[in-house]
Amino acid sequence: MDLDLTGKTAVVTGASRGIGLATVRTLIAEGVRVVGAARTVTPELKDSGALAYAADLGTPEGPAALIDHAHAELGGIDFLVNNVGAGDDVNVGGFLTTDDAHWQAVLDLNLFSAIRASRAALPGLVERRGAIVNVSSINSRVPGTGPIAYSTAKAALTAFGKALSEEFGPRGVRVNTVSPGVVRTAIWEDPNGFGGRVAAAAGVDHTEFVARIPESFGIASGRITEPGEVAALIAFLLSDAAGNIMGADHVIDGGTLKSA
Ligand SMILES: NC(=O)c1ccc[n+]([C@@H]2O[C@H](COP(=O)([O-])OP(=O)(O)OC[C@H]3O[C@@H](n4cnc5c(N)ncnc54)[C@H](OP(=O)(O)O)[C@@H]3O)[C@@H](O)[C@H]2O)c1
Repeated sequence: MDLDLTGKTAVVTGASRGIGLATVRTLIAEGVRVVGAARTVTPELKDSGALAYAADLGTPEGPAALIDHAHAELGGIDFLVNNVGAGDDVNVGGFLTTDDAHWQAVLDLNLFSAIRASRAALPGLVERRGAIVNVSSINSRVPGTGPIAYSTAKAALTAFGKALSEEFGPRGVRVNTVSPGVVRTAIWEDPNGFGGRVAAAAGVDHTEFVARIPESFGIASGRITEPGEVAALIAFLLSDAAGNIMGADHVIDGGTLKSA
C-alpha cells in the first residue's frame, strides 16, 4: 500500500526487535527516514536502513536525548512511535510481590518514556503537523488479566494519548493509540521472557504454552498477531489516509476482547 509517506521522518522506540523493528521496516519500505532506538543495536536494526541509536529509554534523560539526536540526524521529525515497553522483568507474581522499585521501573519504561519523548518532540511535531502513535495493550482494558504494574501503566498510557490528542489535535498533531493482543515477539517466544516465565510458573512446557495461546486466550481468529500486522496499522495511522482519525485506541487482537 502506498501511504504517500516518502520523504517523511520518524522516530521509533524499542526498535531492535519485535513490533518496533517491524514498524521500522514498514516505514522504511514506505520511504520514511527513521531513527530507531533501543539499548542494543541488533544486526536486524542495523540492516533495516534505519539510523540506529543506542539508549536506555527508561531513564529520565534517555527519551529527550533520543529526540535531540533525531532532530540533528533528520533535520526534523514528522512521526513519533512510542513503542518501547514491557521490559526485562515483568513480574508474574501478584500485587504483594510488586514493590515500589518494580512499579517505578515499569512506569518509567511503559509510560514515562512516551511522556518524555512526546514532550521533547511536540514543539517540532506542531510545526510539521505531525503524528504520534503510542503502543499500549489490550491489558489496559482488561487489567485483571495481566501483570498489575504493566496493565496499570498501559491504562495510563492510553489515557495519556487521549489527553494529548485533545490538547494537540487542534494544533495539527494527530495522536492515536494502538492496543495489541498477543503478538508473536520475544515477550512470548523467548523461554526467558514473560511467556517463558508464565509457562514455568504454571508448570507447562513453554513451546506447548505458546502453541495453545489462541485457544487459551480465546482469540477468535485462531491465531496470534504478527508484528508486521501491528506495524501496518501504525503506518496507516501515521499517514494522511488516517487524516481525521485522532485520539482513538485501535485494538488489534484477533478478537480476543469480548466486549463490543
Ligand atoms: N508482544 C505482545 O504480545 C504485545 C502485546 C501488547 C502490547 N505490546 C507492546 O508492544 C510494545 C513492543 O513489544 P514487543 O513485543 O515488540 O517487545 P520486545 O520484542 O520485547 O521488544 C522490546 C523492544 O524494546 C527495547 N527496549 C526494552 N527495554 C528498553 C529500554 N530500557 N530502553 C530502550 N529500549 C528498550 C528492546 O531492545 P533492548 O532490549 O535492546 O533495549 C526491544 O527493541 C511494548 O510496548 C509492549 O508492551 C506487546
